Amino acid sequence: FAFTPENQKWAEAQMTKYPEGRQASAIIPLLWRAQEQEGWLTRPAIEHIAAMLDMAYIRALEVATFYFMFQLAPVGSVAHVQICGTTSCMICGAEDLIAVCQEMIAPKAHEVSADGKFSWEEVECLGACANAPMAQIGKDYYEDLTAERLREILGELAEGKVPVPGPQNGRYAAEPL
Ligand code: FES
Repeated sequence: FAFTPENQKWAEAQMTKYPEGRQASAIIPLLWRAQEQEGWLTRPAIEHIAAMLDMAYIRALEVATFYFMFQLAPVGSVAHVQICGTTSCMICGAEDLIAVCQEMIAPKAHEVSADGKFSWEEVECLGACANAPMAQIGKDYYEDLTAERLREILGELAEGKVPVPGPQNGRYAAEPL
């Protein structure tokens, strides 16, 4: 793994934001940049960043595995779908959303769909409990979901469309940011 020259320059700039000897504090932005560059965090990428920050690989891996924002396996080219499976969402129908992912994407979490476009996983609370059940699809939140609406959203994304994120039941006007 190597950062592109542009990303390498950016990463080195991040490291200068912290006092001498505290460069490890830059790990989250560097991991994020590597994921943005590669699509997911490969072991060589994590090793490279650990070496840049003078950290043990295991310390960098601990950070990468702690946050759902980091993907440690290949993801779909169109979107990685994260279904919230915590209490509010589970009570309001998360299992139905997971069933849609199993049917439309892949039977198991972290597998990529046959067409390469999607992957999925169940995650813990994403902080939108009032609009349960919900999913983060790519970088957008889709809330007040039903199984039917999730099917439509995945279909639209597969066709290259971008469904309007936010509540899907007309709870309030949802404009793209
Ligand atoms: Fe699903 Fe909080 S329980 S967003």
